[in-house]
Amino acid sequence: MLSLIALLAGSTALVSAQSSFSPARPPALPLAVRSPYLTTWQAAGSDGGNGGYLAGQWPTFWNGAVTGWTGFVRVDNTTYNWMGNAYPFPQVVDQTSFKYTSTRSIFELQAGPVTMNVEFLSPITPEDLTSQSFPITYVNVAVTSSDGSNHDVQLYTDVSAEWASGDRSQVAQWDYDTTTNNVAYHKFWRQTQEEFVEDNQQAAWGYWYYATSDGEGLTHQSGADNDVRNQFTSQGQLENTQDTNFRAINDQYPVFGFAKDLGSVGSETVETLFTINLAQQHTVQYRDGDGVSSIPSYWINTYPDYETALDHFYIEYDTVAGQATDLDNQVASDSTAAGGDDYLTLTSLAARQAFAGLAVSGTSDETYIFLKEISSDGDIQTVDVIFPAFPVILYFNPEWLEYILDPIIKYQEAGLFTQGSYALHDLGFFPTATSAGSEKQPLEECGNMLIMTLAYAQKTGDTGYLSQHYDLLNQYTGYLVNESLIPADQISTDDFAGSLANQTDLALKGMIGIKAMSIIAQMTGHASDSASYASTAESYISQWQDLGIARDANPPHTTLSYGDDSSHGLLYNLYADALLQTHLVPTSVYQMQSDFYPTVEKKYGVPLDTRHNYTKSDWEMFCAAIASEETMNMFISDIAAFINETPTSAPVTDLYETGNADYGGGIRFQDRPVVGGWFSLLALNQTGIPADNTS
Ligand SMILES: *[C@@H]1O[C@H](CO)[C@@H](O)[C@H](O)[C@H]1NC(C)=O
Ligand SMILES: *[C@@H]1O[C@H](CO)[C@@H](O)[C@H](O)[C@H]1NC(C)=O
Ligand SMILES: *[C@@H]1O[C@H](CO)[C@@H](O)[C@H](O)[C@H]1NC(C)=O
Ligand SMILES: *[C@@H]1O[C@H](CO)[C@@H](O)[C@H](O)[C@H]1NC(C)=O
Ligand SMILES: *[C@@H]1O[C@H](CO)[C@@H](O)[C@H](O)[C@H]1NC(C)=O
Repeated sequence: MLSLIALLAGSTALVSAQSSFSPARPPALPLAVRSPYLTTWQAAGSDGGNGGYLAGQWPTFWNGAVTGWTGFVRVDNTTYNWMGNAYPFPQVVDQTSFKYTSTRSIFELQAGPVTMNVEFLSPITPEDLTSQSFPITYVNVAVTSSDGSNHDVQLYTDVSAEWASGDRSQVAQWDYDTTTNNVAYHKFWRQTQEEFVEDNQQAAWGYWYYATSDGEGLTHQSGADNDVRNQFTSQGQLENTQDTNFRAINDQYPVFGFAKDLGSVGSETVETLFTINLAQQHTVQYRDGDGVSSIPSYWINTYPDYETALDHFYIEYDTVAGQATDLDNQVASDSTAAGGDDYLTLTSLAARQAFAGLAVSGTSDETYIFLKEISSDGDIQTVDVIFPAFPVILYFNPEWLEYILDPIIKYQEAGLFTQGSYALHDLGFFPTATSAGSEKQPLEECGNMLIMTLAYAQKTGDTGYLSQHYDLLNQYTGYLVNESLIPADQISTDDFAGSLANQTDLALKGMIGIKAMSIIAQMTGHASDSASYASTAESYISQWQDLGIARDANPPHTTLSYGDDSSHGLLYNLYADALLQTHLVPTSVYQMQSDFYPTVEKKYGVPLDTRHNYTKSDWEMFCAAIASEETMNMFISDIAAFINETPTSAPVTDLYETGNADYGGGIRFQDRPVVGGWFSLLALNQTGIPADNTS
């Protein structure tokens, strides 16, 4: 293992220390994870990663494209590499520990006689749309002498133009300046701006900023990677010059460097703060009944000038960091109380990834939160991706669910969806929400929309929202009344597993959707609709218990599809019955499933269904939240083991093999916001098997 790491790091120096990892060593370590376009990671898993070390390997965008990010430190004239893989590079630091919380990744590094604490903070601000909408990550580098003596220390870091486009032949342009509050910044961008276009998943528009506080000891330089880095390693400072030969990203890779002379560092810690952010006037294009419009980044309403925004967010660091600590602590205490330490391994890894799928947009009058599906597809506002993710929103701030559902509801209410009376699947490809896609999951999405809309109203008390959209919700329910008892051959959200008729779990979703509409009707004064839907749902669920349960199996369980008693699957849609307290499904079904899952457990979890050995961790956690404590703990510890041991090296996948923790079916789902579903326990009022489930 030791020699492998040294080899992967390509280092000439000895890697003498093994890092500790807490609470886990995830497949990829989150570095700057804030939005669909600010998402940079360090690959850790054995299949392409270096084991979880900040130095000796390039950070990458979620899809594996390098986002050049370098860190050097000179201690008494000896240079060490603490981040990235610049060549030829000095010896790497010893990494002694890595730790993550919901908002932070913290590395402890030893550079000769000084200790460095490098903290990447990607805030989550569920009470503050403006802050959440501004994609910025803070990197605080704290240096202390560790041997009792003082040492001369100079710090260096740069980013490359690779952040500005996924097409490396694109010409980059750049500039250098300071803000009114003396925040020094490199600004760089794709010279030919193409709004609402992606280059290999990276944005083809917007302006990137790499910033730090100006002042004594700070020097800067832009130029070819080797020139700027060699300048630092040889001189310990930069030349305060600008390369004005704007050129292709991959033509003598332009980098944007800072050097900071920390002077003589003793036992008192010296901190330097850097920030990386992306500024875009607009996030997405959206079509509603009035046509297509460009939707602003939400923060633009407050900070119309990009540099003013940067200035504000940079100098607010102490406040931001304090709020992040509160949030970290809240997630930690809630998670350990609900599911123990292993559960915190899951939630604290999921939080940033889930929120980074979101683009907070619009104005205070018309607020929208757009979601990018990420690796499975570039779809925007995919209903069955929002659904698995939505527990994290319910937990942090259910008000935000309205901003996520609105684009879908408005589009469909404007009559723009003409494929059927059911709920649409998506609004197109991020960042253009202008045309619903043709993928069809009618039963799935009708159920999802009803369940999520009711959950929103229950958690926020906003019954007006239900009245306002009653007709559309009623239309979805009509579809479910027609189609959910005997589901036609169709795909569910697990489309990769293939289509099938009579899917037991899909039928259940439809029935819970009908019962949800009964509650919606009751909340909005539609008494006769309420009674009628309640009676339909009751009738369906009693038939479903005959159609979908393998009673004679040992032990009994629900089937994958009606009548196929040798089949089984995760009955994850039952979660909605508990969440909404629809009291539709008898407690005995919860108990039966809870007893059954441990009998089909494999090393890293319970397979999604009998067609394959892979599973979905979001759905496992839906099942865990409504199981006995023992079964719940089984699911949680299996997923925590998966996180620690998976050979995958991309931002954590939700689709994985239960036997060996590899990508499920070879399908490389990664970085998807659906890990928000790991918050299933925290979105429920009460976990476990409902005690009394009859109305
Ligand atoms: C570092 O190098 C400079 C220039 O050669 C020299 O003046 C200085 O004494 C050196 N510092 C240490 C701590 O060796
Ligand atoms: C349900 O089925 C009836 C009878 O076939 C049909 O008239 C109605 O349009 C369907 N409703 C929906 C929402 O599909
Ligand atoms: C679906 O289930 C119903 C009820 O058992 C059955 O009549 C029907 O044939 C099944 N459909 C398919 C395609 O198997
Ligand atoms: C969950 O609990 C809260 C606070 O006790 C309550 O207001 C809310 O109605 C409950 N939610 C549901 C769905 O019952
Ligand atoms: C699951 O894995 C086991 C053990 O490797 C194998 O025997 C079985 O065929 C697999 N099942 C499926 C559905 O692929």
